[in-house]
Amino acid sequence: MKLKGAIDCLREGGIPSDSELTELLHVSDCCEAEEYLFKSAREVRDKIYGPTVFARGLIEASGYCKNDCLYCGLRRSNGKAERYRLTKDDIMTSVCAGYGMGFRTFVLQGGEDGYFTDEVLSDIISSIKDRYSDCAVTLSFGERSRESYRRLREAGADRYLLRHETATPEHYARLHPKEMSFGNRIKCLENLKELGYQVGCGFMVGSPYQTDEDVLRDLRFIRNFKPHMAGIGPFIPHGDTPFKSFHAGCVGLTVRCLAIVRLMVPDILLPATTALATLSDEGRVRGFLAGANVVMPNLSPEEARGKYSLYDGKKNTGAESAEGLAILESEALSAGCRLSMSRGDHADMRKY
Ligand code: 5AD
Repeated sequence: MKLKGAIDCLREGGIPSDSELTELLHVSDCCEAEEYLFKSAREVRDKIYGPTVFARGLIEASGYCKNDCLYCGLRRSNGKAERYRLTKDDIMTSVCAGYGMGFRTFVLQGGEDGYFTDEVLSDIISSIKDRYSDCAVTLSFGERSRESYRRLREAGADRYLLRHETATPEHYARLHPKEMSFGNRIKCLENLKELGYQVGCGFMVGSPYQTDEDVLRDLRFIRNFKPHMAGIGPFIPHGDTPFKSFHAGCVGLTVRCLAIVRLMVPDILLPATTALATLSDEGRVRGFLAGANVVMPNLSPEEARGKYSLYDGKKNTGAESAEGLAILESEALSAGCRLSMSRGDHADMRKY
């Protein structure tokens, strides 16, 4: 079989040549090589975590953002975005409901909103940890100072998600406004790791101007950085951003990236993202079949859900909502996995 050597090389912890990796990224859907790639990714995942998909409850705390990333619907120049912000009470109510459903990880995510100071966030984090001491708290509030990350960690935060977005500095500059820098992004990721967080990076597949070389750099970056988690989903245009006329990323390429990342970093926690599920009804199942092992259904209050609009058509009902756990469970099953509501810590630091 063509590319069997390259896939075996990945399985053994090696790195195939750039041309082989590029070929692997672009094999056709369902061909023999792709089946072997996915089967290998599942075997590697199952050896460490079992055939398990971990569910996290996602709470989208703020639709305000001071940044102006060209791809994102929450960018500050989008005058059409309906902004909202959850109060501590709203968040505690969502956590309480999620706890009742069985969630033991809560992901608080939001734009870079000045309202969520260290004090405000620390109070929320410590309240969650006091009341629900068996739960993990994951934060995703963008770039902050090392001191801020330190305080939030001290307040009890366990994990932090900050996608690197692209590992090519020139590409980074085309996706972001001048005041943002690739260097600071990476510095933030390093700080988070040093402070003892379980850290997630990640990138969009098919973002505007992305080349194969950029994707290879993303894969190599993840292999070297060895994050605990990585969010990898297709780019989807948002009609009120400068990138509204670009095509969405490719589902097939996204799932092949997931499988390659699984082989490069065997113990990584890898979500089948909402963007993947938004682009294709089979997206999530295809993600699980390619070695993904996390899902993050939405626990935000109903009124907030439609407003956290990163891209057009973002799903927030059915299996994307916490109320849709039964659907998620059957999707996991159809990919040969069980759905777990446990904390689902990284293999290096399992507590429960
Ligand atoms: N398409 C896909 N993903 C997007 N994100 C932001 N905008 C889009 C988009 N248009 C992703 C970014 C960010 C995460 C919160 O959402 O990668 O890090």
